[in-house]
Amino acid sequence: MTLVSAFDPIDIEDIKVIKKIHRLTGKKVFLSLLKDGIASYKYRYEMLQQVKEDLPYIEIASKDEKLLIYDEKKNAYIKDGREFYKRKINKEEIRRGKNMHIPSKVFTFICTNKIYFADILSSYLTNSRYEHSCRVAITAFNIAKNYRFDKYLALQAGLFHDSGRNLKTDKQISILKKMNIDTSLFPQYSYHQFSSAYLARHNFGIEDKKVLNAIKYHCTGYKKMSLLEMCIYVSDKCEPGRKFPTEEVYNTAKIDLEKALIMTLKEQVEVYKKLNIDPCSNPYTKAMYQKYIPDYFKGGQDD
Ligand SMILES: [Fe+2]
Ligand SMILES: [Fe+2]
Repeated sequence: MTLVSAFDPIDIEDIKVIKKIHRLTGKKVFLSLLKDGIASYKYRYEMLQQVKEDLPYIEIASKDEKLLIYDEKKNAYIKDGREFYKRKINKEEIRRGKNMHIPSKVFTFICTNKIYFADILSSYLTNSRYEHSCRVAITAFNIAKNYRFDKYLALQAGLFHDSGRNLKTDKQISILKKMNIDTSLFPQYSYHQFSSAYLARHNFGIEDKKVLNAIKYHCTGYKKMSLLEMCIYVSDKCEPGRKFPTEEVYNTAKIDLEKALIMTLKEQVEVYKKLNIDPCSNPYTKAMYQKYIPDYFKGGQDD
């Protein structure tokens, strides 16, 4: 028998198969772990335990079993030559962060234990920035559950949105040059939105433009933002670790993302006023304000 998957880590395709087997047999579904996964046996065992909480019919088989997934009669369901399950998700892509179709509990486990992609991301960031990134990912995921776009893309964009944040300025500038971004048009604090998109593309293998753009506009915004872009922009500001009250924006975002974006922008305007900063000194933010809070340019704000 040839194993085709190693629960390393468990992903949403695995979950679908487990659910399907349970539906067909009405019985417990046994999973066994390969001995030679990328992460330690202990980590992989604990990752399955996270999923077990939501799927009580899962049993974890002994270490020595050769099958990967089977029912109580020991009928194996994942093996070569059987049409039951054609895998689309590549485990290597999941471990790398290129694909994030994993249950949120597994995501949290990976981030907490800094394994796979979390190991790499955490090495790029200060601890507080890394923790902020994990919170933004979960916040974006929870908001996205209420919309029709892919919530796993929100999880991914949220996690990597600040990946370039702790790079030195000269490194940021050299990345922006590679991306053909005119650095003179943008304030220095926004450079990391571009470098983060660059790292997401080149170091984590993410190719999805929707995700890359959500990262690329999370700081300055953009003239017309997609729901995913708004979701990341707002989640960055309303994640629960912020030192100001965020619940109203978060609750609004779950119902009306554009309204939450406008609330966020209006709050920002007040902060910028106090700091005597013109947020519209760059073309992206100016265009965003023109679209979403046009009264800003008439000397007041719309209500
Ligand atoms: Fe940022
Ligand atoms: Fe951030």
